[in-house]
Amino acid sequence: MPLRTLETLGDLGGKTILVRCDFNVPLSDGVITDDGRIRASAPTINRLLTGGAAVVVISHLGRPEGAHDARYSLEPVAKRLGELLAAPVHFASDTVGPIAQRLRESLPPGEVLVLENLRFDPRETSAIGSERAEFAALLTDGVAAFVSDGFGVVHRKHASVWEAAQAVPSVAGLLVATETEVLRRLTAEPQRPYTVVLGGSKVSDKLGVIEHLLPRIDRLLIGGGMVFTFLHALGHQIGASLCEHDQLDTALTYLHRATELGVEIVLPTDVIVAGAFDADAETIVSPIDKMEDTAFGASGLGLDIGPESASTFATLIESSRTVFWNGPMGVFEMPAFAHGTRAIANALTKVHGLSVVGGGDSAAAVRTLGFDDSDFGHISTGGGASLEFLEGKSLPGLEVLGW
Ligand code: 3PG
Repeated sequence: MPLRTLETLGDLGGKTILVRCDFNVPLSDGVITDDGRIRASAPTINRLLTGGAAVVVISHLGRPEGAHDARYSLEPVAKRLGELLAAPVHFASDTVGPIAQRLRESLPPGEVLVLENLRFDPRETSAIGSERAEFAALLTDGVAAFVSDGFGVVHRKHASVWEAAQAVPSVAGLLVATETEVLRRLTAEPQRPYTVVLGGSKVSDKLGVIEHLLPRIDRLLIGGGMVFTFLHALGHQIGASLCEHDQLDTALTYLHRATELGVEIVLPTDVIVAGAFDADAETIVSPIDKMEDTAFGASGLGLDIGPESASTFATLIESSRTVFWNGPMGVFEMPAFAHGTRAIANALTKVHGLSVVGGGDSAAAVRTLGFDDSDFGHISTGGGASLEFLEGKSLPGLEVLGW
């Protein structure tokens, strides 16, 4: 079923619209280090404002566990949103308290009010439905409609995602509609060859995706910390590199299953080995089967894929018509171990077809490495949400919008 969209709301003039965003952005000492999620929802808010609505924005930030915690205040987010929109943006220092109530009542059309972090109230994430419903009723009080634009949170059955969407007429915002359509294309009608690139530290985080996507893809390229579990399962010595010993059998099972399905699994042939987990550590490029033969012996750490692997991966990516990438190839935050991730990002920019960067870490990686969002077909704002979508799970925040 298609999602209900903004067009179905009709005339917005003079109405107050509640918009659920996912402004869970990374902060360092109160400074936003990646505003991608704020920029991603700006078109939806702008559309409502130009339609003559007053917009109340709600979001969570971090996991403050139901109590006020100044480290997770949305105030810096409201400020950034004000810089991005050509409209006044106000901030309420409570969520459903007297300050928010007063500001909501006096909010004129064409202006925005950002409420304080939803998760400062325990009812937002409560396991008890009636508590969530009570909170959702306060959030939706006096609004004409609810717009769900926080794609990163559609996998959560929280008050601002599930109950709020049932309390008043609700539709998907532009971001949720776009994200859903792009991810649907990855599962339903991919152009071939279809390549999936997985990295990041843990195999266990990616099992569901591998399981669901294997029958649909042509190639699976694996890098990042998780690749050492696969390499060890195949009998390679991996020094002191990351390894999930309880996933060795699972890794082998997936390798066998891929062979049965005719999916080409490509693992790195070389790796950057470091003597320590340190940006300035001494490094050696090693063939994958000689990792413990370097000067570091069994204490060497694989922290990036090597140049030969990066080149092989890039060639396979560039010759694909559909590519989904989730998870960095190495410890990209340290320049000495960013080469593999940069090479993959660069290859994705050359895909003639659909290239999708999924997940918070990968999105942050490409922006940190100087790429622009427009270099890719799509950068998903959802970490867990996009993975759960690709695992084929039912997502409450989409289900409630008619999906
Ligand atoms: C995310 O960053 O993936 C979303 O904002 C969801 O956050 P959560 O995992 O704390 O619910």
